[in-house]
Amino acid sequence: MDVDHLTVAQKAALSIGSSVWDTAAVPEHDIESITLSDGPHGLRYQPADEQDDLIKGRPATCFPTASALGSSWDEGLAAEVGAAIGVEARASGVAVVLGPGVNIKRTPLCGRNFEYFSEDPFLSGRMGAALVEGLQSQQVGASLKHFAANNQETERLRISADVDERTLREIYLPAFEHIVTTARPWTVMCAYNKVNGTFASQHRELLTGILRDEWGFDGLVVSDWGAVHDRVAAMIAGLDLEMPPNTGISDRAVVEAVADGSLAEDVLDESVRRLLRLVEQARERKPATADLDAHHTLARRAAAESMVLLKNDGGVLPIADSAGLTVAVLGEMATVPRYQGAGSSLVSATRVDIPLDALAAALPAATVRLAGSASDVSGADVAVAFLGLPPAVESEGFDRADIDLPADQVALLEAVAATGVPVVVVLCNGSAVRTSTWDHHTAAVLECWLGGQAVGSAVADVLTGAVAPSGRLTETIPLRLQDSPSFLNFPGEEGHVRYGEGVFVGYRGFDASDTAVAYPFGHGLTYTEFTYSALDVSVAGSADEGTLAITVAATVTNTGARAGQEVVQLYVGDPVASVARPPRELKGFTKVRLGPGEHTTVTFPLAARDLSFWSIAKPGWLLEPGEFTIAVGASSRDLRLSATITVDATLPRQPLTVTSTLGEWLADPAGAALIAAAVGDSANGLFEDQGTLRMMAPVPLDKLVLFQGTGVTRAMLDELVARLPG
Ligand code: BGC
Repeated sequence: MDVDHLTVAQKAALSIGSSVWDTAAVPEHDIESITLSDGPHGLRYQPADEQDDLIKGRPATCFPTASALGSSWDEGLAAEVGAAIGVEARASGVAVVLGPGVNIKRTPLCGRNFEYFSEDPFLSGRMGAALVEGLQSQQVGASLKHFAANNQETERLRISADVDERTLREIYLPAFEHIVTTARPWTVMCAYNKVNGTFASQHRELLTGILRDEWGFDGLVVSDWGAVHDRVAAMIAGLDLEMPPNTGISDRAVVEAVADGSLAEDVLDESVRRLLRLVEQARERKPATADLDAHHTLARRAAAESMVLLKNDGGVLPIADSAGLTVAVLGEMATVPRYQGAGSSLVSATRVDIPLDALAAALPAATVRLAGSASDVSGADVAVAFLGLPPAVESEGFDRADIDLPADQVALLEAVAATGVPVVVVLCNGSAVRTSTWDHHTAAVLECWLGGQAVGSAVADVLTGAVAPSGRLTETIPLRLQDSPSFLNFPGEEGHVRYGEGVFVGYRGFDASDTAVAYPFGHGLTYTEFTYSALDVSVAGSADEGTLAITVAATVTNTGARAGQEVVQLYVGDPVASVARPPRELKGFTKVRLGPGEHTTVTFPLAARDLSFWSIAKPGWLLEPGEFTIAVGASSRDLRLSATITVDATLPRQPLTVTSTLGEWLADPAGAALIAAAVGDSANGLFEDQGTLRMMAPVPLDKLVLFQGTGVTRAMLDELVARLPG
């Protein structure tokens, strides 16, 4: 795109917003301004003359937030929601919707977890990609955020996330990588925080090395709102558009830096070209009229698909309508539902369905009454208690202090349980809450997350069985906060948060330490049962030639009396590895709908990358040959079928030196032969005595010289290295 006709001042102005939500225009060159607006679960559009309120936007459909939508494990549904948001954006003339957010739920305490999909990168990547594809099918751009390692709200504007390269590559980057390489979002939003001491907004390795050079991203990088500290450093690192404007400070800095040569004009030109390409892409957008009734219906379906039935003792659910049945409804959220989180994602809903009203309408023959206290209950056949987190404890901008429900809610639940009426708890919260202290008082627990504006009717659908629950947990519900793998390394101190648990985030950590949990990752019940059979794993191609292709197939049968959906999950493990690896990692899932007695065969492809870890020593993805476990099941702790496969691969040869250990020399066939030739097969008995050999194996060769009994001499060392092949 030609930028030669623009002055440096015009180019500097284009590289920063002209208002909170708009990019700059250059009318004399026919360059229009475009509008960006918040998402991610609905449009928060504030036209120029309606920005007096910090947050409030024009009415739009509030869909379930990501923690809910993620729990549907339904990529098609995420694409439908994305497309609907796209239509509403088109109708408002918005070019880019700021979402989805695919940061990993490192801790249940993160105040913004409700905006994120999962503790698992594979699931986050798949759901996020579907949402981006849906949104962009409407010629509206996505802004994938917040890149990267933005996993807490405490000190979010300046904390340094100190995370090692392997953890970054295996946990915090893959969702971004998958979405960038498959769904091609128009824009990526950098995070506020620092990553290993450098602000994400000026992190060249992240914004250029990884994002562009490795993943091929050719879109625009926009700052999170106010994330830029040094405009010139940010531009050099690869940040194209700063938002929002800052009274001319950045424009001037860019103009001065070009004048004094500290910023190459080519770099500015490239950023402006990306902005102009975005403006061009936005021009293709056609006006639209949003069908808000249809979107409300979609929001209801999405909310119902996202609810996770955690327990259902004695089949208390679904509640069948009948004359003579009395349902007592408790809890403030039955009449004032909590359906979204607070902060920049807050949508002014077009309407809100009230759970109590919807339940009464769904059970026309029964008596459904609101009970103000536990005693109002008594005499009912079943009590439905709406519990959850109030907005004041869960929001963008701060983290939670604990994972408990408010004490007055637990007290209410205990009082109701004491009446002997079976209690169904309906939870509304954006991130995991502790259930272990009150679970035993309940007959059933339905986790609704923050289900969007139609949560009221959706919950009635699920409670009455009009829709069978089909959500599954995308985050582990621990017995106690202290069990959470990041507990000791959160929220950090003195400006740094150390990601000390490494790759052992969420179920990876709970499983590695064999810690009991309340409800495991992937868990969720429905109103029927499924059995698994006929696991078949075939291995084809060659890892060395880059053609390894593994296919996993299994048959799932609905053995119950009702139709339902099962989320079939595939986990892979590498039991013997040179680095510590999680016992199992999600590498595939599919949601199937089956009528009573029906069965289907599901298949999953696996490639070398799915078996690999990120090696720091031999930088890159490394597939170590040997055995891998392949397990298929209904949750990370309900694995129904498993098999072991053997995969061949040649490890990159580690160059041997005089500081390589005796063990490393002996593990290398050429090295072992040279040592044997130099000191003899027994090396004065060293190689024959297993105890001594085990003790000496970790000793670098040049230190072995100190132990004369080994027969290794100084003179030998250089000759040994010189004679190594290659
Ligand atoms: C949030 C972003 C949001 C932006 C614009 C920031 O504070 O972190 O997610 O898109 O504001 O509202």
